Amino acid sequence: MSRDTLSVTDNRTGAIYEIPIAQGTIKAMDLRRIKLDDGDFGLMSYDPGLTNTAATKSAITYIDGDQGILRYRGYPIEQLAANSTYLETAYLVIFGELPTAEQLRKWERDVSRHTMLHTNIQHLIEAFRFNAHPMSVFISATASLSTLYPEARNIADRANRHLQVERMLAKAATIAAFTYRHNQGWPCNFPDDGLSFIGNFLKMMFRMTEVKYQPNPVLERALNILFILHADHEQNCGTNAMRVIGSSQADPYSALAGAAAALYGPLHGAANEAVLRMLEQIGTPANVPAFLARVKSGEGERLMGFGHRVYKNYDPRCRIIKRTAEEVFQVTPRNPLLDVALELERIALQDDYFISRKLYPNVDFYSGLIYKAMNLPASMFTVMFAVPRTCGWVAHWMELVEDPEQKISRPRQIYTGSPTRDCLALDQRTAVLN
Ligand code: CMC
Repeated sequence: MSRDTLSVTDNRTGAIYEIPIAQGTIKAMDLRRIKLDDGDFGLMSYDPGLTNTAATKSAITYIDGDQGILRYRGYPIEQLAANSTYLETAYLVIFGELPTAEQLRKWERDVSRHTMLHTNIQHLIEAFRFNAHPMSVFISATASLSTLYPEARNIADRANRHLQVERMLAKAATIAAFTYRHNQGWPCNFPDDGLSFIGNFLKMMFRMTEVKYQPNPVLERALNILFILHADHEQNCGTNAMRVIGSSQADPYSALAGAAAALYGPLHGAANEAVLRMLEQIGTPANVPAFLARVKSGEGERLMGFGHRVYKNYDPRCRIIKRTAEEVFQVTPRNPLLDVALELERIALQDDYFISRKLYPNVDFYSGLIYKAMNLPASMFTVMFAVPRTCGWVAHWMELVEDPEQKISRPRQIYTGSPTRDCLALDQRTAVLN
C-alpha cells in the first residue's frame, strides 16, 4: 500500500477505499467512489464558504496564515514593498517574473497607453447621482467596458487576453479617479503620460487649478506601497468571484465587475470603510474599553479590521501599512483617530477573547487612516482597494484560462426542500404561509 494514500472504511458497508493524497490534498471526486450500492450517487464533502476546499492550483501567491507570511511568486511582500513599484509588482504577479529595466519601460508604456477612458464611460459615470456610492459606480463602469471592447470575449487568443489585461489595469485607475471627481462635483482630470502610474493616478484624483501637477513623493511612495500590498491575496472572495465568472468563459470585464461586487461587502474589501466609521464612532482612546466590551458581548458590531479567514497571526501587510501611516503623517496632518486605532490594537492583543480566537489586525485596519489623510471620503476606500486588486483578479483570470484542469464552476448542494408534490389549481390550495 502506498504511503501517500488515505484508507477509508465505510462503516455503512464495511468497504475499504484507498484514496491518493497529493500535495496534502485528496481529490473530492475520489469520494464519489464511496457508495452504498451501484445506484448510490456517492459521497460528497460539505464545505460552506469553501473553508477547506482547494478549488484550483495556483502559482501566484503563497500565504502561511499561521506564520503571517505573504509572498507573490516567491518574493516576500516586505521586499516587494521596499524595492519595487506597483507596476513592477503587477508585472511579477501577472507574468510570473520581475521585469528587467527594459521590460519595465515597455510595460509602463503599454499600460499608460490605455489610461484614457472613452467618453461614453465618462458620461455613464456622470449620469449617476453625485452621492451614489463610489463602489456601485466603479462596478457599473467596469462592467460597461465590455460594451466598448466586444473582442474581449475572444478569450482563447493569448495576445487579445494580454491587451485586455493592460486595459483593465489602466482603466480601473481612471474609472476610480473619475468616480471620485464626480462624487466631489469636480471636473475630471485626464491622464498624463509624463507621470508614473501612481503619480498619474494622484493627478487624476487631486489636481485642482495647478498648471503642472507634481505628486508629493511621500504620498506617491505610500500609494505605491498600499497598491503593492493589495495587489493579490490568492483565493479570497473577490478573486473567487473572478474565477467563477471567468470559468463560464464570460468576457473579463464582466468577471472584473463581479469580483469588484464581491469586494464591496463589509466582511471583505469594504471593511476599510467600516473601520473608519468604527473609529469615528469610538471617538477617543478612552472609549475603547467600553467598545471592546460590546464587541465581546456579541451585542455590538465586530471589531472591524480584525480577524482573517487565513491569517491566524499578525497580517504582514498591516505591519507595513502601520509604518507607512506614520510616514504619511509627516507630510499631512496627523489624524487623531490613529491613537484610537493604536489603543484598540493594544488592548485587543492583550485580551483573551481576541487571543484565543487568534484575531489580529488585518490589511484594512490602518489603510483607511492613510486614505483619510489624503482627504478621501470613507466611501472611496474600497475603490482604492479595487484598483490594485485588479492586478490579482486579472492574474487569476489568466491563470484560469490557461489551466487545462479548470472547468466551469458548478458546486453541488445538499437538497433540503420538500419531496415531490402535486401542483393544485389555485382554488384548491390552502394557505401555508401568511
Ligand atoms: N471581531 C470580533 N469577533 C470576531 C471577529 C471580529 N472582527 N472576527 C471573528 N470573530 C470571532 C467570531 O465571532 C467567532 O467567534 P466564536 O467562535 O465565538 O463564534 C470567531 O472569531 C471566528 O470567526 P468566524 O466569523 O468564524 O471567522 P471567519 O474566518 O469566517 O471570518 C472574517 C473571517 C474576516 C470575515 C472575520 O474575522 C470578520 O468578520 N472580521 C471583520 C471584518 C474584516 O475586517 N474584514 C476584512 C478581512 S481582510 C481583507 C479582505 O478580505 O478584504
